[in-house]
Parts: sequence; C-alpha cells; structure tokens
Amino acid sequence: MTDAAQTDLVKINVADGVMEIVWNRPDKKNALSNVMYRAATAALARAMEDKSIRVVLLTSEGDSFTSGNDLADFAAASAGGETPAAGGFIEAIAQFPKPLVAAVTGLAVGVGTTMLFHCDLVFVANEAKLTTPFVNLGLVPEAASSMLIPARIGYTRAFAMFALGDGVTGAQAAQLGVANIALPAGEVIDAAREAARKLAQRPPGAVMATKKLMRDSETILAQLRTEGKVFGERLKTAEAMEAFMAFQQKRTPDFSKF
Ligand code: COA
Repeated sequence: MTDAAQTDLVKINVADGVMEIVWNRPDKKNALSNVMYRAATAALARAMEDKSIRVVLLTSEGDSFTSGNDLADFAAASAGGETPAAGGFIEAIAQFPKPLVAAVTGLAVGVGTTMLFHCDLVFVANEAKLTTPFVNLGLVPEAASSMLIPARIGYTRAFAMFALGDGVTGAQAAQLGVANIALPAGEVIDAAREAARKLAQRPPGAVMATKKLMRDSETILAQLRTEGKVFGERLKTAEAMEAFMAFQQKRTPDFSKF
C-alpha cells in the first residue's frame, strides 16, 4: 500500500493468509469517507497481487458495520467538489478474484449493504440492520444492487428497501439468503474469521475458479457503471442537495416542493 492511501480510519491486518480490512471510524458509525475508500481499494490491490493472501475479510470496529458513504463527501460532490471515491472501491470488490468474507456486527447502510452482495460469505449479527435508503437521499441504487438485490430477495422486497428505505434485520438477511448465518453480535467476527481461515487453506486455484464460474462479472460491471452514471447525475440534483442539507441540519427533508 502506498503511504498516500494509509489512514487510521481503516485498519489492515494480515494473518494466516487472510487480510482483514477493518472500518475504524466508530464515532461516525464508520461512515466511509473518500480517504477510507482509497485505503481499502489499495489494500484490495495489494491482496490481489500477494499470493500469500488467499482471502479478504471486511469488518468494523464499534457497533456499526458502516453507515454508508460519508454524507459530507456526497454534499461536497453535489456542490461540484471531489467525485466520491466509492466508485473505485466498488469496482475493486466487484472484480476481486479471491474470496471476500464479511462480518457485519451492526448497522449496514447503503454501500454497507450493497457491498455484501459482492462478498462470497456473509456473517451477520441477529440484531444488525441492513438498509439501502437511496431514494430518501434523492439517489439511486449503486454497486449493481439494482440488479443483485432483486435477484437475491425478489423485486418487491428490493424495491421497498430502495424506495421506502425498509430494512432487514440480520436474522431476516440470513433467512433471505443475503447472509450465511445470523449470530449473537459477539460471535460474528470469530465465526467469520474461522470460515476465512478455512477458505485460506483450500486450493486457491479451485476457489477462485469456482468464484469466477458463479459470478457474471461482465454483466455486474456493466450494471454498476450504468448505475454510476445515473448516481453521479442524481448527486447534483436539488432533491439530493435537500436530503444532504437536512442530514447536516438534523431535520427531516422536505421534498414537497419538487
Ligand atoms: N455520513 C456522515 N456522518 C455520519 C453518517 C454518514 N453516512 N452516518 C452517521 N454520521 C455521523 C452523524 O452525523 C453523527 O455525527 P455527530 O456526532 O458529529 O453529530 C455520528 O455519525 C453519529 O450518528 P447519529 O446520527 O448521531 O447516530 P444514530 O445512532 O442516531 O443514527 C444512523 C445512526 C446511521 C441511522 C444515522 O446517522 C444516519 O441515518 N446516517 C446516514 C446514513 C445514510 O444515509 N448513509 C448514506 C447511504 S447511501
């Protein structure tokens, strides 16, 4: 990893063939800022190159997995500032050839949930809450989630998640096949680590070939790029600006004028 991509807000640990990428911004519910996406993307590039790293585990410090993209970064992009670095991270996980495991101990908002659909094993806390409230923010789904979520849980449930902001608990996520298993929060990371270590001991060529056969990455990439275009346009709309402003001002957004 280059120095420029290092930040204390993302911890990278490597042991037993497993790289852990740990969101470490608990005071902001692990909201993902541009610097965090860049650090995680650089770590994934390193994990891809390094033959000794067989598996990547995504997890977090604190009570939330992540509250999604940093809304201050979205507001800045909306006002013509830096393009969110989420796109690079999403493309990296969508094309990552080695297994990705997620340990979700709490809240997973927006990209916190959509990234799980790029993971190969997902462990969640019973009480975790998975939400994708893109429409509430004047936005649209990303990370190919407009395709991957309805494919996994059905169209109407997915639409309610996107457009009403309805969430699913960890227990429901396991029932719906979004997660392998829901566990008491204190057991999630150990279970995910054990599975990651087991995967790291499997023949890596067979593991990667299996993943490749199971994922239609060309279609996924095409979808996430189409979404990315619409998302970028939506970020600059008055609807989105109203949503970001309302969050900053700790008030309910008012969409009645649109
Ligand atoms: N971006 C930037 N800051 C965020 C954030 C985000 N996505 N999510 C939480 N935070 C910050 C809050 O502003 C607050 O900061 P402060 O202490 O300086 O005021 C801190 O994290 C704690 O959040 P708070 O809202 O007080 O916690 P909560 O438990 O009441 O609610 C959430 C947690 C995640 C439900 C709520 O913060 C939220 O809805 N966040 C926005 C989620 C979102 O829309 N993400 C983008 C999806 S595309």
